[in-house]
This record gives sequence, C-alpha cells and structure tokens, in this order.
Amino acid sequence: MSAQSQTAPASATTAGAAPDHLAHNYHPLPVTIATGEGAWVTDVDGRRYLDLLAGYSALNFGHRHPALVEAATEQLGRVTLTSRAFDHDLLHPFADRLTQLIGPLVRDGGPGATPMMVPMNTGAEAVETAIKVARKWGYEVKGVPAGQASIVVGHGNFHGRTTTIVSFSDDPDARDGYDPFTPGFRLVPYGDARAVSDAIDETTVAVLMEPIQGESGVVVPPDDYWPTLRRVCDERGVLLIADEIQSGLGRTGTTLACELWDVRPDLVTLGKALGGGVVPVSAVVGRSDVLGVLTPGTHGSTFGGNPLACAVGLAVVALLETGEHQARARDLGTHLHARLASLVDDGLLTGVRGVGLWAGIDLDPARGTGRDLCEALLARGVLAKDTHGSTIRLAPPLVVDRPDLDLGMAALRDALTQLAADR
Ligand SMILES: Cc1ncc(COP(=O)(O)O)c(C=O)c1O
Repeated sequence: MSAQSQTAPASATTAGAAPDHLAHNYHPLPVTIATGEGAWVTDVDGRRYLDLLAGYSALNFGHRHPALVEAATEQLGRVTLTSRAFDHDLLHPFADRLTQLIGPLVRDGGPGATPMMVPMNTGAEAVETAIKVARKWGYEVKGVPAGQASIVVGHGNFHGRTTTIVSFSDDPDARDGYDPFTPGFRLVPYGDARAVSDAIDETTVAVLMEPIQGESGVVVPPDDYWPTLRRVCDERGVLLIADEIQSGLGRTGTTLACELWDVRPDLVTLGKALGGGVVPVSAVVGRSDVLGVLTPGTHGSTFGGNPLACAVGLAVVALLETGEHQARARDLGTHLHARLASLVDDGLLTGVRGVGLWAGIDLDPARGTGRDLCEALLARGVLAKDTHGSTIRLAPPLVVDRPDLDLGMAALRDALTQLAADR
C-alpha cells in the first residue's frame, strides 16, 4: 500500500465528533505543524520535530530556505501570474538556466540542438506531459500507426495520481474504483532490462521508469539496469524517460540520479524540489526534436511557468549550480548509510536500501508496521512516513547537519529497540 494513498479509518467521522470537512484521502501522523525552519518543524504546542521526510523530497533545501523565501517574497511584490497568454520576464531566463543545468545530463536532439523544457506545476502533470509528448512523437516522427502507441513501465511504479497515471499503477489503493483506465501501457518487473526489451515492439514509443523507485521503498535497480535500458532504447528507436521527480535535484548526491550510472535519458521529469517546498513547480526537460512536437494550443497549463514559480525555480537552480547540496547528500549519505547498516548488524532492521540522503528501511513485520515505527519516532521528536507494510522511507532535507542526523539515528535506534522489546 502506498503511504501517500492511505485513507483515514471510518472512525474519523464517529457520531458525536465535530464534523470533518476534509476528505479522508490521507492518514497523517497525529502532529499539527505550525512552523518550519531548515530540517526542523514546530507543532501547535511548541514541540520541535526533526523532519526526516522533507515533503517526500519536495523540501530538499529544507523549510523556508532564506534564498528561496527571498526570491518568492520579492516576486510577490512584482507579479505572480500572467498565464501563458503573455510572456513575462522570468519565463525564458528560467527555461535557459534550467536547461543549462539539466541539459548536459540529458540527450539534446542532435548536432547543434540544445535541450528544451516545458514548465508545469505538479509532478503528475510533468509525467502526463512526457506521456503525451512521447505519443505525439511516436505518431508524427517514429511512424507508429494511429491509436496504437505503447509505453513500457515498471511494476511498483509511482508516477502520480491522474486517471492515466493510475492506469499503469499496480497498487490497488491507487487504482481501485477509478476505472475505466487509459490503455497503452505495458507493465514489466522493475530492474529487469530483459523484460523491458521483450515488451518493446514496433508500437513502443517510450520506456518510462523511476531511476530509483521512491514510493516503493527506495528500490535501487541493478547497476547495469539503466545503461542497458539506454542501449535497448537506442537500438529499438524508443525514448527513455526518467521520472526524477523524487530522485532528482540533489537527493542521491548527484543532480540527477541517472548520473549515478552515467546515463542520459531522452526526457526527464522534474518536480517536488524544483519548487523549493514553496510553490508547485515541475518540468519536462530533454530533446528539442521530441519536445518540439508541441505546437501552440496542443498542451499547456494556466499556472505552468508562472512568474512566482519561475522566481523560485531560478533560485532553486542557483542553489543546485553550486553543487553544495549534492556534496552534502554524498557526504552525509555515507554517514547515514553507515549508521543504518549498524542497525541491520544489530538485528534491529532486516534491510536497508538507498543512496545519498535517501533510504528505505525494513522492519521485521513481527515487530510492527512502518506506521508503528513512525509513531514511535514521532514520540521521540522525529518525523518519518511509512511507504508500505513494514518499510519506511528516510529522506532528510539536504541541509540537515551531522549532529541532527545523529540525533535522528539515535531516536531510530531507540524506537526500534522499544518495538523489539514490546514483542
Ligand atoms: C517519482 C514520482 N513521480 C511523480 C510523482 C507525482 O508528483 P505530484 O504528487 O507532485 O503530482 C511523485 C510523487 O510522489 C513521484 O514520487
């Protein structure tokens, strides 16, 4: 079950309780946050918590990073929305700076071509954009017969919540009750490049995968997976699309996770941290000959590329250009994984996966669920969230410092020791 999908128990509306006007599409931990700064938040009663979730990686730069708050505040005093009916003075600068940062990490579209970007808002919209563009490219450039485009995707994927995207999810919580679904997707086991190759035929326009599956529990594929996907896609004339919405922008110690394997996708989807935890900002970046299939009126969004989003996005790009956050993720990530490995050695965890400041950790189900562990952490002043079963994801803001990380790891050890003792 996906943690982002857990519904509140029916008892949330027990007779006699105050009416609850909020739909129950989440089951949050019992904490009400009032303020946040850096890696810390404070609840309405003044209690402080170390945030080891960082808004599912939307807060890679922490809460209210001064440079991001300054950029947003300054822009609030100028203009916030124009719609794409008119240009504004930050739209092209944002496109330029983002493609300068990401361009060298993706395919460019041939000699002399420079990468392009399409600005959107949420992660799901970026994924939808990539799917639409890949299909259009398939019909107009590759010559796929009308209505037959297929896209290969991985089991355990999480790419968002729209009707088309849940059409190729294999999480019953994400899908059940939302059919009829969008056709045109082929699910294959994640991490198995042979299965991808076998699923490709003349109708296939793209392979769409997360470089590392976040929501599934930070599942890292075999080292030869992405290089093999790149080779297979090249040989078969298929686009390789990396969904870097959660894995990208510093989390793994590199700007894109695909850099870990030296692979340049044709298109990359970005979101979450691109908005610095301030406003929703997403984008598709990649080959100009692919994104070039978009023509006026064929795709868009009222808020996509709005001035406030571009101001924050530019400030995010500036933070990433220094390489400082990527380096922090590498250095502190090594420390985090050493601490987590010691919990496995001591029999407190059954498994740990991940890279950089990103980890999926497995608890023995006999000792409790991921939710039990998150509640035990909450009681110790640490915020984390289960992904499914007895797995939780740790994704501290990249601005966390080593003493704070150690404090979080001490709380984790204490919580796990208590769960072990209680069974
Ligand atoms: C890999 C990936 N893609 C897409 C999304 C969807 O992003 P959003 O919730 O902003 O629509 C997520 C969100 O968790 C994600 O992890």
